[in-house]
Amino acid sequence: MGDHVLGIAMNGVTGRMGYRQHLTRSVLAIREAGGVVLPDGSRVVPEPVLVGRSERKLREIASRHGIERWTTDLDSVLSDDGISVYFDAQITSAREEAVRAAIAAGKHVYTEKPTANTLAAALELAKLARAAGVKNGVVQDKLFLPGLLKLRRLVDAGFFGRILSVRGEFGYWVFEGDWQEAQRPSWNYRTEDGGGIVLDMFPHWHYVLEHLFAPVRAVTARAVTHIPERVDEAGHPYAATADDAAYAVFELDGGVVAQINSSWTTRVNRDELVEFQVDGTQGSAVAGLWNCRVQHRAMTPKPTWNPDLPTGERYRAQWQEVPDNAEFGNGFKAQWELFLRHVVADEPFPHDLLSGARGLQMAEAGLHSSRTGRRVELEEVSLS
Ligand SMILES: NC(=O)c1ccc[n+]([C@@H]2O[C@H](COP(=O)([O-])OP(=O)(O)OC[C@H]3O[C@@H](n4cnc5c(N)ncnc54)[C@H](O)[C@@H]3O)[C@@H](O)[C@H]2O)c1
Repeated sequence: MGDHVLGIAMNGVTGRMGYRQHLTRSVLAIREAGGVVLPDGSRVVPEPVLVGRSERKLREIASRHGIERWTTDLDSVLSDDGISVYFDAQITSAREEAVRAAIAAGKHVYTEKPTANTLAAALELAKLARAAGVKNGVVQDKLFLPGLLKLRRLVDAGFFGRILSVRGEFGYWVFEGDWQEAQRPSWNYRTEDGGGIVLDMFPHWHYVLEHLFAPVRAVTARAVTHIPERVDEAGHPYAATADDAAYAVFELDGGVVAQINSSWTTRVNRDELVEFQVDGTQGSAVAGLWNCRVQHRAMTPKPTWNPDLPTGERYRAQWQEVPDNAEFGNGFKAQWELFLRHVVADEPFPHDLLSGARGLQMAEAGLHSSRTGRRVELEEVSLS
C-alpha cells in the first residue's frame, strides 16, 4: 500500500486565512503528521505549490517553511499534470475567475467561502465542476469548532426535544484605522471589492443552520453601514461602501426561527466572539467557538418578574458545561483531511460547491430583503 503524494496549488497563501489556517495549520501540519490515513491504511500526503501575486512574499513564505515550489503564474500550475487540486483563499472578488480556470484544467477544487460574489456565479461554478467531473468543496470551518461539535452532539442525542429557536450573536469592534490600525483588511469594507458582513457571514450562518438544524426557507434582514469612512492599510481614508452590521431573522423548516446579529461595530460582552443559544422544549444550550453550556427542562428555574426587587438569581451560574469527551484539533485541518479523503478515496463530502452556492443565495436574499424591506423566500437551488 503505497502513499499518495497529492500536488495542491494554493492561491492566496499570503493572506490571513490562506497563510495561517490553510497553509500552516492545515496542509503543513498534515504533512508533518505524515499525511492523512485512508481506509486501506495507505496515506495521502499533500504537497503544496504556492501561488500568488508577489514573488517576494511567496519566496519568503516558501523558504520559511521549506516549500520547494512557488509561482506567480497560475496557468503554469494549472497545466501541470503533477497538480491535482486547486485551492483558493484569495480575496472573494478574485475567486470566480481562478476557480473557473482550475475546473477547465480538470483540477479538483477546494475554496474559501463565499465561493463567488453572486449566486449566479456560484451556481455556475458548481455546475461546471459537476460537468467536468472534478471533486469540489468549500470551507465550512465553523462546523468543526469544538463548541459547535458539542452542539451537534446535543442535537443528535435529542437533548432539545422540539427545537423552537436559535439566537446567534457574532461580532466585535473592528477599529476604523485612524488612531488604531484596523484588524481586518480594508477590502472587507468596500462592496466593489467583494466586502460586506452579509456576504462574509451569511454563507457561514447558512451551513451552520442547514447542517445543525434544518434548511433555511426565508430571510428578513436589515444590513447597514454604521461607520461610513475608514482608514486603509496605507493610512488613506476611504468610503466604507459595504455593510458592517446585519440584523436578520431566518425561518427554517419545521418552524424553527433563527435570529442572528452580525456586527463589526459592537463591543463584546459575551464569553466568545460568536455564541448561539438554542431553545427547545426539553432543554436549551449556549454554544460558542469552544464551549457549550446547557440547561435541561428539569433544571430550569422559575423566574418571576418583579421590578421592585434586585435580581437574587445568578442565572448564568445555573447552566452546566458540556464535557469535551474528545480531543478537538484545528477545524480547518479537520475539514482538509475530509476533503483529501474525498479526493483520493472517494469518501463522502457534503460541503460541495452547490452547498456554497446555497450560502450565496442566503446572502443575496438578505441584501435584497434589506433593500426592499421585505421577507424573501429561498427557492430550491439545484444543478439541473
Ligand atoms: N472561513 C473563514 O472563517 C474566513 C475568515 C476570513 C476570511 N475568509 C475568506 O477568505 C478569503 C481571504 O480573506 P483574508 O481575510 O485572508 O484576506 P486577505 O486580504 O488577508 O488575503 C487576501 C489574499 O488574496 C490575494 N489577492 C489576490 N488578488 C487580490 C487583490 N486584487 N487585492 C487584494 N488581495 C488579493 C492576496 O494577495 C492575499 O493572498 C476571503 O474570500 C474571505 O471571505 C474566510
